[in-house]
Amino acid sequence: MKIAKALASATILAACAFGSASAAELVVGFSQIGSESGWRAAETTLTKQQAEERGIDLKFADAQQKQENQIKAVRSFIAQGVNAILLAPVVATGWDEVLQEAKDAEIPVILLDRTVDSSKDLYMTAVTSDLVHEGNVAGKWLVDATAGKPCNVVELQGTTGSSPAIDRKKGFEQALSGHDNLKIVRSQTGDFTRTKGKEVMESFLKAEDGGKNICALYAHNDDMAVGAIQAIKEAGLKPGKDILVVSIDAVPDIFQAMAAGEANATVELTPNMAGPAFDALAAFQKDGTAPPKWIQTESKLYTQADDPMKVYEAKKGLGY
Ligand code: AHR
Repeated sequence: MKIAKALASATILAACAFGSASAAELVVGFSQIGSESGWRAAETTLTKQQAEERGIDLKFADAQQKQENQIKAVRSFIAQGVNAILLAPVVATGWDEVLQEAKDAEIPVILLDRTVDSSKDLYMTAVTSDLVHEGNVAGKWLVDATAGKPCNVVELQGTTGSSPAIDRKKGFEQALSGHDNLKIVRSQTGDFTRTKGKEVMESFLKAEDGGKNICALYAHNDDMAVGAIQAIKEAGLKPGKDILVVSIDAVPDIFQAMAAGEANATVELTPNMAGPAFDALAAFQKDGTAPPKWIQTESKLYTQADDPMKVYEAKKGLGY
């Protein structure tokens, strides 16, 4: 029987999986989703930087948005005998088998930025924000901004089946519940990309009397919001005024849009998920300290009142 199967406690697992490896000897595989957004590009850059700073040998695999590529990458990391695997899962379902394979091979897996619906026993920890809370913060901002006035909302969802798309929708709807002035009239996926965000917003505008029927846009990420802002302008309307814009990520481009009055609010998601992940690995390696199953990152709301140009300047060189 494989040793990991017989181990009941994470502490014993630590001793086996990391035994005598020092940080300098660590080889970590990273299965990244792809490069759909500015936020994702920054996460990739920061993960590589964090690995380099710690002397970790990072094996990087870009899945080009496909779960099957991620599963292949994880299997290849297992075959290579890496010390740990970082996985940013494109969708929430379908991971049980490959996570079990990693566990059988005694290789701890850390989820980055998204969650899965597998048993928590199959991964070491997840470094993510509270994705429901993010949607909730965006929704509450809109509730306050509209102050009881009737408002038709359109929603650009993230990748179908991904945990941020599911949870950000849920959190936003929770915030709107009981506020009958706010109605989500259209909701469709824009796949977290700028191009799709623009395309879908164009169809929303067309379907809603050239946009006259729309009072606010909620986008599950800033990139889709930036694409939608372009569509709103091309339709002859003023984003940020005729149509309020609230989204999530806090990438530099949205702060430029906020400074120009074309976006109203964003909820920050740190792209540095790897720092806490590597810290957890280091502690685990040192003395077997098992991290909590969830390492939560912060979610901060930014509005036009937060000196967006200053935030843009501070963020623009950070790998986005
Ligand atoms: O999982 C995090 C989300 O994925 C980010 O909000 C989005 O930009 C990304 O691509």
